Amino acid sequence: MQKGMKGNMEQLNPVEKKKVIVDLPGGRQVIFGIAANIEDLITDLSDEDKVPCWADIWPAAHGLAHYLWEEEAIGLGKRIMELGAGMGLPGIVCALKGAEVTLSDFNPTALEMASENARQNGIKVRLLQEDWRSFSCREQFDFILASDILYDPKLNPFLGQIFSHNTHPGGTILVAHPHRKATCEFIEDCAVYGLREVKRDLREIKLTEETLLPRYEIVINALQPAGAPRE
Ligand SMILES: C[S@@+](CC[C@H](N)C(=O)[O-])C[C@H]1O[C@@H](n2cnc3c(N)ncnc32)[C@H](O)[C@@H]1O
Repeated sequence: MQKGMKGNMEQLNPVEKKKVIVDLPGGRQVIFGIAANIEDLITDLSDEDKVPCWADIWPAAHGLAHYLWEEEAIGLGKRIMELGAGMGLPGIVCALKGAEVTLSDFNPTALEMASENARQNGIKVRLLQEDWRSFSCREQFDFILASDILYDPKLNPFLGQIFSHNTHPGGTILVAHPHRKATCEFIEDCAVYGLREVKRDLREIKLTEETLLPRYEIVINALQPAGAPRE
């Protein structure tokens, strides 16, 4: 893992993986390794930080990946950070389009697996191990990606601060979620963090892999610093 990363990199236990093929618009496919059995990774359900929600690709990540693959503004030279990246699908899609991508998460195993997913798809990404509650990275990015990470009202204020400090003036934060209540409330109140919503898109996602609900409607909210010129 690239240095510049924060925190001690402990010895990671190997995770048994399964291969999934992710379809992007236009027939492009990417191949990912995700945890074969998430239940095996559960050690302490009473500690929210230990819930292995990083080990799968969430429907919001599929929706955001579709959006990013088709979005012309994502491409060569753009600096992009994905927060709470987990397996890293949206960020890796941006890197496939030539963007300079940083995948960030507080879970080192997630970052190892996301890095391997990038390598499997022929690209490199930078890794940043940071906790939102003590985020020390001061870099600013053209885009910040937030796929289904605004779910906990206790954590959302930390993310609001990161969005406002780490987005380049004129940059954009893309928030993806399946109409999640805590996310909708964050968007409504985003002026508190000096942000405003500039665009809202929807993506219909059909997942075939053993999911309980194969169809999802994913919302993609684009936010910008309130002082930035309007589109
Ligand atoms: C619901 S999962 C979403 C994963 C991925 N973005 C997706 O959509 O597939 C939430 C992610 O946020 C990360 N996360 C949770 N709390 C965090 C914190 N305090 N600091 C940094 N990352 C955190 C988890 O490790 C996990 O990867």
